[in-house]
Amino acid sequence: MSKPAELAPGVRHWRHYLDAGRQKLLVDEIFQLAKDAPFYHAGMPRTGQRLSVEMTNFGKLGWYSDAAKGYRYEARHPLTGATWPPIPATVLATWEETAGYPAPPEACLVNLYRNGARMGLHRDQDEEALDAPVLSISLGDHALFRFGAARARASSRSIGLESGDVLVFGGPARLMFHGIDRVYTASSTLIPGGGRINLTLRRVTRPG
Ligand code: SIN
Ligand code: MN
Repeated sequence: MSKPAELAPGVRHWRHYLDAGRQKLLVDEIFQLAKDAPFYHAGMPRTGQRLSVEMTNFGKLGWYSDAAKGYRYEARHPLTGATWPPIPATVLATWEETAGYPAPPEACLVNLYRNGARMGLHRDQDEEALDAPVLSISLGDHALFRFGAARARASSRSIGLESGDVLVFGGPARLMFHGIDRVYTASSTLIPGGGRINLTLRRVTRPG
């Protein structure tokens, strides 16, 4: 395993952690699984305004949001009513190798960025297990990821995330602000139909 760069206390970045072959297999698996769990546009709490990113989930719990009930985790797909597909083995292995957490993740959010989709600055704070880090895997088009100190938005900085990169943020950085300012269209040919996929792994409930 290559050594990560420590971008800030609690923020570790592995460039090209997954090689091209494993990226391709993983993308094929994601689209295969998404046949049973189709991508949807979540809505903002209260207003219902659609997020530009398309989403689906793998794992026991999936992240969802709509006008009526806001941000939350659901055990079933909001449109099909089925439980979410399992988290791919490569993804679970990546968590085991890099997260340094004694229990498996429960949620794997799949974000699909196309047509200029972006993700505004936010914190991941819908989980009970805030002692577990957040792990993200980037696939496809390169993106500009903005992240900040635990509280101050003013001190945010940016890093390019490329296909195969793994980013883990936990400890003092677990509640840092972060978002995707920009996706560089056609900077990769990995994703069928183009775009970027980000997998975000989280432990939601406290283990044990
Ligand atoms: C997210 O914070 O949900 C997504 C981050 C990313 O796409 O890299
Ligand atoms: Mn997030």
